[in-house]
Amino acid sequence: MKRKVYLFASLLVVATLVLAACGGSGGGGSQPAAEATATTAAPAATDTPAATTATTETVAATTETTATTATTDTNTTTETTATTTTQGAAPSGEKVTINWIGAAAGAEAEFDKKEVAQFMQENPNISVNFIEGPTSATDRYGLYLQNFQAKSAAVDVYQIDVIWPGDLAEHLLDLNQYGAQDVVKEDFPAIVTNNTVDGKLVGLPWFTDGGLLYYRTDLLTKYGYTAPPKTWAEMAEMAKKIQDGERATNQDFWGFVWQGLAYEGLTCDALEWIYSSGGGTIISPDKKITINNDKAAAALDAAAAWIGTISPPGVTGFKEEESRAVWQGGNAAFMRNWPYAYSLGQGADSKVKGNFDVTTLPAGDSGHGAATLGGWQLAVSKYSAHPAEAAKFALWLASTEQQKQRAINISLLPTKVSLYDDPDIAKASPFMPKLKDVFTSAVARPSTASAPKYNEVSTIFFQAVSDVLTKKSNGTDAVANMELDLQDKLKYESGTP
Ligand code: GLC
Repeated sequence: MKRKVYLFASLLVVATLVLAACGGSGGGGSQPAAEATATTAAPAATDTPAATTATTETVAATTETTATTATTDTNTTTETTATTTTQGAAPSGEKVTINWIGAAAGAEAEFDKKEVAQFMQENPNISVNFIEGPTSATDRYGLYLQNFQAKSAAVDVYQIDVIWPGDLAEHLLDLNQYGAQDVVKEDFPAIVTNNTVDGKLVGLPWFTDGGLLYYRTDLLTKYGYTAPPKTWAEMAEMAKKIQDGERATNQDFWGFVWQGLAYEGLTCDALEWIYSSGGGTIISPDKKITINNDKAAAALDAAAAWIGTISPPGVTGFKEEESRAVWQGGNAAFMRNWPYAYSLGQGADSKVKGNFDVTTLPAGDSGHGAATLGGWQLAVSKYSAHPAEAAKFALWLASTEQQKQRAINISLLPTKVSLYDDPDIAKASPFMPKLKDVFTSAVARPSTASAPKYNEVSTIFFQAVSDVLTKKSNGTDAVANMELDLQDKLKYESGTP
């Protein structure tokens, strides 16, 4: 009887994973999918036989792994966990299957699948099933949490957001036990520190991220500008002028696109507006709630005023990929997005190919611009039945060589310091070495200060910001209410930024 219950529970987890992967509009967990611009998503699945095999195998093999776990131990889940965490590599010669939840559908997932095929060729005793994750980081977090709470072995390797180590540490293995301490010496130390919780390295730095301003070089020239905007006010003015001019021939043209949906991406965008205006980081590193201030309120009101003037009303439903669809279709002068959009924008089928560049986001009252620090790590579940093989795969994916390929092919920023001097990377993505300082000084979301409640903090924040954008609230009321909700949630005192 008990056996049946476990089997059922595990199958539910698998079904959720499969549904999430299929139902999402695509998109990398990290980086977004390609729904609206599927055409731009690098090599189609049909170009990559190995990749196709990997996807097709996913469901069956995941089910098999889960079913095995479900029948392993019928007494307590805790016991199962204890057995699996101490388990080493499978006896030599025995083939094991591990499951990796990676990017959502799109160019990034296609790249992930190619890597899986290469790894399996080099490691014939390890079979890897690739599972596509949801597009939205918020949905992905929900899915992972559900999986972890069920102590499910259905996924061995997870890609985790830079903001999650503190929230998810209790479910993850210490990768230093698998040789990671030697390889992370080459990574940016701040990311290694971010991924170390209570002395345990719970995530291998994989790629880093930072918000960028994409701008149309051809249109700047056409409207008499010699440089991209330095301040948000300048950006809004330029966006309006270009939009007014372009509307004469293109009714779909907008000045500025960004991520306005109520999800983690909006937390990133809004933190950039607020921090660059001198309004702080929601919660300070010394655990004071700082969001209730005039600069933060004004920054939110300014963003709300873009909607319908330089940004489409639909922007309040945009994630990364919806912004990229408008931009890459040639219908926007400026876009806020992550580096992944660079290589896609330079693709053969992109309408903006050769006509755009990237730079730092504009400054507000603080006098400097701010890029939110993003990025993804590779983690191994504490509930994995094959931790040694899972760690081996994660270490391979995060290696300098694989990071280099990622930087060249899909313009994702390496976490290995030396790669910023690599001539092949500089050739494929010139902005990487040029903007290295932007990425290394990016502003962190308050995930360490609020762990293990960061996800709840971010949800309070992005929902309140969304209310301002959709005119249900205003900046002043929103920051005051956020302060109360955050006090309630965290029991921290308030302070000034
Ligand atoms: C990017 C960033 C990630 C962030 C997400 C929000 O994937 O790398 O850190 O949370 O966007 O949408």
